[in-house]
Amino acid sequence: MANSKVEELRQLRALSQQGGGEERIKKQQAAGKMTAHDRIELLLDKGSFREIDAFVMHRETNYGMWDRRIPGDSVVTGWGTINGRLVYVFSQDFTVFGGSLSQVHAEKVVKIMDMATRNGAPIIGINDSGGARIQEGVVSLGGYADIFLRNTLASGVVPQISAIMGPCAGGAVYSPALTDFIFMVKKTSHMFITGPDVVKAVTGEDFTFEQLGGAMAHNQYSGVAHMAADSEADCLYLIRKLFSYLPSNNMEDPPFRPTKDDALRTEAALDSIVPESPNKPYDIRDVIHLVVDNGEFYEIQEHFAQNIVIGFTRLGGYSVGIVANQPMVLAGVLDIDSSEKAARFVRFCDCFNIPLVVFEDVPGFLPGIDQEHGGIIRHGAKLLYAFCEATVPKITVVTRKAYGGAYCVMNSKHIRADLNLSWPMAEIAVMGAEGAVNIIFRRELDQAEDPDKRRAELVAEYSERFANPFAAARRGYIDDVIEPNETRPRLINALNMLQNKRDNNPPKKHGNIPL
Ligand code: HXC
Repeated sequence: MANSKVEELRQLRALSQQGGGEERIKKQQAAGKMTAHDRIELLLDKGSFREIDAFVMHRETNYGMWDRRIPGDSVVTGWGTINGRLVYVFSQDFTVFGGSLSQVHAEKVVKIMDMATRNGAPIIGINDSGGARIQEGVVSLGGYADIFLRNTLASGVVPQISAIMGPCAGGAVYSPALTDFIFMVKKTSHMFITGPDVVKAVTGEDFTFEQLGGAMAHNQYSGVAHMAADSEADCLYLIRKLFSYLPSNNMEDPPFRPTKDDALRTEAALDSIVPESPNKPYDIRDVIHLVVDNGEFYEIQEHFAQNIVIGFTRLGGYSVGIVANQPMVLAGVLDIDSSEKAARFVRFCDCFNIPLVVFEDVPGFLPGIDQEHGGIIRHGAKLLYAFCEATVPKITVVTRKAYGGAYCVMNSKHIRADLNLSWPMAEIAVMGAEGAVNIIFRRELDQAEDPDKRRAELVAEYSERFANPFAAARRGYIDDVIEPNETRPRLINALNMLQNKRDNNPPKKHGNIPL
């Protein structure tokens, strides 16, 4: 029989493990949610989790709280591995005071974040909390601010991932908001600054939790979240998968995964994927799938600003970030949402040494008073800024249109792209032939005997002269015009060529991106 002290330890640990007790665990499970420990078990490699601070207890005496202390308080913290690679985790325990954030809860989270940042490994936060521990008052608010500071200081040093698996409301949303990727679970997770009751009282609008701040609300409309999972298990699986593309910190290269998919594979289907008519759409994801290793593409924010497609994939085993205009949605124009979506992604990839591959088919920026008054100038500048400052390998393939300011923005040669390739059907010009002819030949067309016939002639002439990739290729703005079928081998060759790329920006405290 074990020494009595060992027995005591075992009992105390068991007490900590069971959190708020059987009844509350049952309630949690009945609501379709796992416990804080179970979530960690499913997220990490089997048996790899090492918990710390399981005996920490809150220090509050008000409202009889001293007698309601549970070892570990309301969050489980520690580290483990995902596919053998170290990650740090905190998982809020809703069964203990609704997962609310006490002073010691914050201290536990801060400790783990400091360790992760110092030791160069990602942080994953599983959020399921009623917010500030009401009994503790301002001490709890201070704890949140301590976490926000850590989130900000760790930004760009180690990847930070948030999983929302229950309530996450009020100021508490700002810790996830400061992290790199937010995963939400449909039906069981919510994020909002003010809940449905307050919204109703203030504005009279009547919305459910799900409508106001559910997974799809933030994946489709606000762009706050990056992934909407069908279940908690699905969510944890998606997080594990994401890590296969990411380095552990900003000093590492992303993991290289040798592939059986031939680096020299050509793909004849690409030669006919762009329709003959420049106004007909095609799905840019078909291009991506045909080009990348085994057709596997990990799309981020697939429900938001669908006129641009972003995500991770591999080419010849290299992890890369894809940014692609989507002709299927709004003809692939850049607007406020798509600019912001892509800009943040470009910056993430640049922070973590992930090369960027751009597929470009963009007719320009979206016209309209909503866009102008919404600040498309400022928001579009974010994407421009992000591409300009990025020093990772940057490759662009113009599949069709590259018009106007959008030509410059989408990783053009002039803003330090390393290799700019074009398919032969590309149109690289100030604007489309119709628009150009209507402006520069307005007077001639007004006076023409047969304006339609003359317009058609002029459009054909303009297209011949400008709406092709060769005007740009003659100047070296396009490095090569390639056959679409050879896109994969050319991209993999470029990634090999750029493997040791080193580039720097001028020394500065930090830039001033137009936020
Ligand atoms: C202390 C809390 C708590 C909190 C919940 N609990 N929230 N304890 N502080 N913030 C406790 C409950 O008393 C209850 O304890 C248990 O957690 C489960 O809560 P229920 O209400 O029974 O659960 P449910 O019906 O699922 O509702 C969950 C909830 C609700 C929607 C989260 O509990 C709620 O509205 N809580 C308050 C949310 C809130 O206003 N928080 C402060 C926001 S301000 P027992 O013992 O009965 O199991 C804020 C500022 C952050 O967070 C600022 C950062 C800068």
